[in-house]
Order: sequence, then structure tokens, then C-alpha cells
Amino acid sequence: ANKKLLVLPGDGIGPEVMREVVRVIDWMDRKRRVSFDLVEDLVGGASIDARGAPITPDTVARAKEADAVLFGSVGGPKWETLGFDMRPELAILTLRRELGLFANLRPAIVLDPLLNASTLKPEIVKGLDLMIVRESTGGIYFGEPRGVETLADGSKRGFNTEVYSTPEIERVARVAFDLARKRQSRVCSVEKANVMESGLLWRQTVTALQQREYPDIELSHMYADNCAMQLVRNPRQFDVIVTTNLFGDLLSDLASMLTGSLGMLPSATLGAPDSSGRRHALYEPIHGSAPDIAGKGIANPLAQMLSFAMLLRYSFDMQEDAEMIERACTNVLASGLRTADVMAPGCAKVGTHVMGEAVLRE
Ligand code: NAI
Ligand code: MG
Repeated sequence: ANKKLLVLPGDGIGPEVMREVVRVIDWMDRKRRVSFDLVEDLVGGASIDARGAPITPDTVARAKEADAVLFGSVGGPKWETLGFDMRPELAILTLRRELGLFANLRPAIVLDPLLNASTLKPEIVKGLDLMIVRESTGGIYFGEPRGVETLADGSKRGFNTEVYSTPEIERVARVAFDLARKRQSRVCSVEKANVMESGLLWRQTVTALQQREYPDIELSHMYADNCAMQLVRNPRQFDVIVTTNLFGDLLSDLASMLTGSLGMLPSATLGAPDSSGRRHALYEPIHGSAPDIAGKGIANPLAQMLSFAMLLRYSFDMQEDAEMIERACTNVLASGLRTADVMAPGCAKVGTHVMGEAVLRE
């Protein structure tokens, strides 16, 4: 059967970088490497403008039918003042909730040709290849009780609660352990078990799961503050890191800057597999809609391209094709073509389309 792919370019540079990826998808289709049923739809500001909502029930239904969703980015100054229910970001939050996407995979990889980019410290990041698995539907961002209350003396009190159940911890830990099996078989679980009850439960649950089902995986534990320090000091000590929603938010942003540019970084968000092993999944670059450069044709399309490579790897088990795309991106960078965000001495500065064209040729 054909593979159903829902493409949601979104706003700003989203459509600009997605265009280059769709050309690669069309090429694969023509070469019969795979047959895709590709459906494109509106989300974010584009959907607000055309349909009056950041995402419509029709689009959510299409996402549920699809084997995988390739997402661009949403948002921009045009829609910032429309109010809470009209935030373009609701598109992604709705999809995460409706598809049950609880495991956010954020790779931090340093490609050799990029070591000459001025922001990197080669002695610390050369060959870096780590994966952060962040729990993304639970924890302190969603836990109850939460709110702001007014006290007797008129002052206010704001509060959130970090809540994790053992099934929530186990399912995200399982994603990390399964990934590790295909990598270096090492998982570092990160929380603050020294000061948080939910952190202690997290540590105990991950430990028990490893002993029960993953004795072949080497498990270590680290407090989140130490992990932040270790990521800057010696990031190559890690293979897979699994952590909570809050700590994962901070640590994955931190790790992303070890690699140079937002324009290079893909991500995946996975749901739970059903009885037939099928799981919902959404793939997107970690960057946003970049309003400051939108419409100029200068955005780096590689994060979107590498998000598609992740899609091939994790949703369709097409390892060779994923590697083909990743290698094409590396080779284009090595050939000296660069978008402005990863420019280096001696390289040629090009725009989105020339970069996409070069990847296609590779
Ligand atoms: P951003 O990631 O859009 O941009 C941050 C900086 O990185 C900008 O200077 C931008 O030009 C640069 N940049 C980002 N992607 C690039 C690329 N592919 N090539 C070259 N340079 C690139 O983050 P910002 O500025 O905080 O947010 C802009 C808008 O995007 C906001 O409306 C925000 O809400 C939204 N956003 C959406 C996300 C999503 O759709 N998942 C994620 C993050 C932000
Ligand atoms: Mg963040």
C-alpha cells in the first residue's frame, strides 16, 4: 500500500523550506523508491487566514489517517494579537494531544563539514551524536492542580504541579531504551530525584524497567543541573538521554546550540504503538517560522530535509533512504555551499532553493 504522508508547511519560512523537501519526495516517488500519497494542508496563521482557526477538525482527521505528518513551522507577528484561542501554536499543541504524541526525539549531531562554522568548538563537539528523548505530554506543564490564587492579604500565589505516573514514565523510557539498542546501548536518565518526589519515582521506575526488560542496555542516572553542566563540558559522553518535559525543554535547547545552527536540527514526536505496531508520529525542524528572514529565500532547508530523513527512519523503517538523504546534506555542506546561518570562511553563500537543488542532485 502507498504510504500516506500529510505535509503541513505552515507559516513564514515553513513553506519555503518544505518546497525543497517536497521536490525530494517527488523524486523518490518517480524513482519508485517508495510510493507516497502526499496530501498538503494548512496550519497555523495560514489556516487562521483561510479558515478562521489555527487547525480545523478536517486537518486533524487527515493527520490521524496519515502514516506520518511532516510539519513546517507556525506563527508570526501577523497573528500575535489575535488572543489565546487563535494562537498559531495551537495547531501543534492540538496535533500532539489528538495523536497522543508523548515522546519528543531531539538529536544533536555535529556533521564534520560544519566544524569550520565559527560558533563551534571542534575539540568538544567533533563527531557529536546524541539523542535527547523528552517526555512531552505530561509533567509540570500539564499537571493539576495549577492556577493563580489570591491570598487573604491580597497577594497572589501561582502554582504548577509536576505529576508523572508509572505508565507515563515507562512508555517514554521504552522509547529511549529501544533507540539505544540501535545506537550505542547507553541511556542516561535525567531528573532531580534528590529534591522531587516525581523525580524519585521516575528514577525507580526507569531502573525497574531496565532490570526487567532491557538488561542489555547500560543505564545511568544524572541530576538535571549536573546534566546541563556535562552537556557543555563533555557532550560526547552521552548516547541517549531520557528526561521529563521541563528538563527536556531546557536541555534539548542547550544541546541544540552545541551543533551550531537551528537551521540544521530536525525532531520527531512519537505516539504509542497500537496493537498492530502502528504509531502516530510528527516530524518537524526545531526552528520556528523565522519572520525576520521569511520571504527572502535565504532560510536553511536542511533541518526540514533532515526531519524528512527521520520520518523515513522511524515511521517507514527506510534506513537506507534516510541515510541517503543525510549523506546528501553532509556532502552539500562539504562541497562548500552554505546558507547564511552556517556560513564559514571559504564557502559560497547560497539561498534556500540552490541548497535544496544541490541536495536533490546529490
Ligand atoms: P525561530 O526559530 O523562528 O528563529 C530564531 C532565529 O533563528 C531567527 O533569527 C531566525 O532567522 C533563525 N532561523 C530559524 N530557522 C532558520 C533557518 N531554517 N535558516 C536560517 N535561520 C533560521 O524562533 P523565534 O524567532 O523565537 O520565533 C518566530 C516565530 O516562530 C514565533 O511566532 C514562534 O512562536 C514560532 N515558533 C514556532 C515553532 C513551531 O512551529 N514548532 C517553534 C518555535 C517558534
Ligand atoms: Mg523550548
